[in-house]
Amino acid sequence: MSTNGQYVVQTVDVSKDLALGQVMVHALRGVTLNVKAGEFLGVIGPSGSGKSTLLGLIGGLDTPTTGQVFIDGEDITNLTERELTRIRNEKIGFVFQFFNLVPTLTALQNVALPIRFARHRKFDPTGRAMELLTLLEVDDRANHRPNQLSGGQQQRVAIARALANNPPLLMCDEPTGNLDTVSGALVMQALHDVNEEMGTTIIMVTHDMDIASQAHRVISLVDGRIADDIDPRSAAQMTAMNLLREERGLE
Ligand SMILES: Nc1ncnc2c1ncn2[C@@H]1O[C@H](COP(=O)(O)OP(=O)(O)OP(=O)(O)O)[C@@H](O)[C@H]1O
Ligand SMILES: [Mg+2]
Repeated sequence: MSTNGQYVVQTVDVSKDLALGQVMVHALRGVTLNVKAGEFLGVIGPSGSGKSTLLGLIGGLDTPTTGQVFIDGEDITNLTERELTRIRNEKIGFVFQFFNLVPTLTALQNVALPIRFARHRKFDPTGRAMELLTLLEVDDRANHRPNQLSGGQQQRVAIARALANNPPLLMCDEPTGNLDTVSGALVMQALHDVNEEMGTTIIMVTHDMDIASQAHRVISLVDGRIADDIDPRSAAQMTAMNLLREERGLE
């Protein structure tokens, strides 16, 4: 099938079966999702519903059992490990719950690192790293090491690092999961700034409905399927979503 260039991500009826001992777990059961360039998508759902599995397929960390995945118009479904590595390096930034910064390097050096290692070096490592730290409002901590930074500051440095080579897509798995409310709000503000000022498409998995509702669009996964796909800014839909959550016993 051909893809429409306006989508940064397309999944077409993807499923993922995982072997757990003798048992086959159907982690995803036919997920079709289109994410437009510049969108900020939230993904919610109970534990085990397939959120991380879906992120892994879109992020080229894993391949689907059936179905197709397109990133930035390119079919990545049947790529080799080496080709997937290229897609990950060029197209996708990753942000995780635990910031995973290199402890012996300063904030600036952490952000500059992927620029130094890029196959096609597009930016001056130090200049670009400083620019990103400024956008994320942690430039005053550029010469500090991770253990000298708060959790929220570390996460903003991690976001800067994920954006180092200007990927069109940023994938975040529970980016505020390890932060207090105030630090989490600053990280969310930073993600909005990135989305608006750099035009980066963002896909963010979270357990937190208040965090998810700050996205442009929220899908909820239940048992490996998309159960809802809403615009959280629409109050009526939000109420319906809350009712559904209560009904299903979600957090
Ligand atoms: N490597 C694996 N081997 C076997 N089963 C797995 C593996 N990884 C995940 N699963 C199963 O696949 C299903 C989906 O898991 P997934 O990690 O995508 O859930 P999740 O929505 O991210 O949950 P959480 O909110 O707890 O992070 C679960 O039933 C899980 O037990
Ligand atoms: Mg998960």
